[in-house]
Formats: sequence, structure tokens, C-alpha cells
Amino acid sequence: MSDVFMNTYHRLPVTFTKGEGSWLFDVQGKKYLDFTAGIAVNCLGHAYPPLVNAIAEQAGKFNHVCNYYQSDVSAAFAEKLVAACAPAGMKKVFLANSGAEANEGACKIARKYSLRKYGPGRHRIVTLKGSFHGRTITTLSATGQDKFHKDFGPFTEGFLFIEGGGIATLDRTLDKFSVAGLLIEAIQGESGIIPQTREYIAEAARLCAERDILLMFDEIQCGIGRTGSFLALEYYKVKADIVTLAKGLCGGVPAGAVLAGGKAADVLESGDHGSTFGGNPLAAAAGLVVLDTVDRPEFLKEIGRKGEKMRALIKGWNSPKVREIRGRGLMIGVDITGEAWPVLEAALEKGLLILSAGANTLRFLPPYFISDSEIEQGLEILRGIIEAV
Ligand SMILES: Cc1ncc(COP(=O)(O)O)c(C=O)c1O
Repeated sequence: MSDVFMNTYHRLPVTFTKGEGSWLFDVQGKKYLDFTAGIAVNCLGHAYPPLVNAIAEQAGKFNHVCNYYQSDVSAAFAEKLVAACAPAGMKKVFLANSGAEANEGACKIARKYSLRKYGPGRHRIVTLKGSFHGRTITTLSATGQDKFHKDFGPFTEGFLFIEGGGIATLDRTLDKFSVAGLLIEAIQGESGIIPQTREYIAEAARLCAERDILLMFDEIQCGIGRTGSFLALEYYKVKADIVTLAKGLCGGVPAGAVLAGGKAADVLESGDHGSTFGGNPLAAAAGLVVLDTVDRPEFLKEIGRKGEKMRALIKGWNSPKVREIRGRGLMIGVDITGEAWPVLEAALEKGLLILSAGANTLRFLPPYFISDSEIEQGLEILRGIIEAV
């Protein structure tokens, strides 16, 4: 393992050189079944030919034009993305380069909307405990987990964290005189695949509409078909003011997006925001393939079916080591009685890649094309490990 990297990641001892479908290959040629999809990034798997071709073709034209100009491919991508998010009320998009940058954009829209309408002081953004919104100073400030809040202060002022699920607390905290926005992951990813209930989200939407607070969904991990609908919030049958996306958006090419609808759609004006790599043509070309592939009812239904199959197989183990199974579609969390990290290490040894989310939760985010037999194969490996540790 190279020692020139800053020591920021607790890495497992493997170096990959190539991938194909649901598989990755290491330097020795050993193959690994990938239940991680790069933490929900490689949603179409590895080296998916239409994605490879689209990127190669675009690279043969140009990799980048600056945002003084529009490129044909980023315009086509933006139009398609807004159309895919129209059921959630989205009308406009700002293309960014990462999830944190997308959430920064969302916070800027909420603050400007509130400032222009109500004046200074009404700038707070409420997020949930256990949330994860990114690693920049402001998105760390928005992240409701204390473990990320050491060493890097002072943080951006104006973020409040509340426990998810408590409607009375939500009501009390969404004070119309001080709150500009509510930022929620419909299913929290990093803290253990924790879904919000329909009742909670419906109440959040009602309170935000009543008090003119922007309702913002961070769909960076749970969006782009991951839960079996294009956006996870579709399950809740509410409309959002803002949606942020990244990870799977361009199938592995770095990208993010802030979408806005209704009163939030035109808040940002010329000169308010920008990003050198936002709308990058390579990312846009890849994103068009992702949207063309994923945003189809039959494809999304398959994601739901495969997720149900995975959950049913794990449930069928009737293992005393499995405490709870959560999630929707191919975004699954499994609480186990022991520690998750040794399971990840043992799985790697046996050629299976899985994630953890918290000390005792295993997390599965496989690529959407994973086959039924690959699901069975991976879960059989996992079952053996869980029973043995
Ligand atoms: C829900 C959520 N929001 C934001 C982020 C930050 O995204 P990025 O790492 O692209 O900045 C992540 C990354 O894990 C995430 O899961």
C-alpha cells in the first residue's frame, strides 16, 4: 500500500486494477464481488460498455468548456435530469462536482431565499441527528454526528440538529422566525440505513409549506434509482423545494447537482454561485447514459425486486447474529450482534466487498445490474462469515 496518501482513510488491504460488471480485480488478478458500487457511485457496475463508449466518444470531442459557455452535452444532461426530477417538483438545476458542493449550493439557496424575503436573522438550517451531508466546513456543520465535529471548528453558524421521527420536536424547532430550511436524507446512509417514516416526512412537508421554510432532500446516497424509485422521496409522495444529488449521478464520473422547484427555482441569480467542473462534458455524457438506463419504470422495478430478494434471503437465515434488516431497493442495512469491521475483513479475504455504516451495521449498495445468482453467491459467503465470527 502506498504511504504517500494522507492518512484519512481506514483502508482494507487491497489494490484494484480493473472491473467488469459486478466484479473488481486486484493486482494479483483475484476477483471480488462488489456489493458496494463504490458507496453507491458505480450504479451501472464497472466498465459498462455504453458508459465507456459515451465517455470515450466525448473525450474525443472535448473534456471541458468553461461555464462562460454552454455545451450541447451538458444542456442535454441538465434537461433530462430536471425531467427525471419533475415528479418531485424540480424545475431548475445547478450542476456541481460533488455531494458536499451540491449541499453547499442548497444551503446558499435557502439562506438567500429567506434573507431576501424576511431580512437578516432567519438563516438557520435544521438537519437530523445521524445525518451526513459532506466534509467541507459548512456541510460538516450540517452533519448531525458529533464524531465529525472535533478538531475543525469554528463551524459555520446556524445549523440545528434534531432527532428524526419526533413530530413534536420538529414542530417546535421549525420556528418560522429563525429557520430558512430543513435538510433531510429520506434514508440516512452513513449512520446505518435509517429510513424516515411516511408520517414524519408528510408532517415535515406540511410544516415547511405552512411556515415558508425550504424543504430540502439530500438524495446523494439514496437517489438515482437506489431505492427503487428515481428519487427516494417519491415513496413519501411529497414535493420538495430542493433536491441534491451526486454519487450515482454520472455512474462513477465525479459530479453533483442541486435541483430546485417552485419558489426556490430562481433564487440564485447571475454571479451568485459557480463551479469550474460543474456540468463537465465527460460527466454529462456519462450522466446521460445513467439517466437513459435508470429512469425507466421497468428498470426501477427490478431494483426494488432485487432488494426484496436480498432482504428475504438474509431474513431466511433466521440467524441469531442478525438483529435487524432495514432499507429499500438496493440500499440495505443489516444490524448484527458483533462488530461489522471484522466481517468486512473476512469478506474481502473470501472475495466479497461490503460496507459498514456504524459499528454494528453492514451496508449493501450493489450495482443495479447485479444478477440473482451474484446476489445468492455473495450472501452465501456472508452467511458463512456471520455464523463463524
Ligand atoms: C447523504 C450524503 N450527503 C452528502 C455526501 C457527501 O458527498 P461527497 O463525498 O461527494 O462530497 C455523502 C457522501 O457519502 C452522502 O452520503
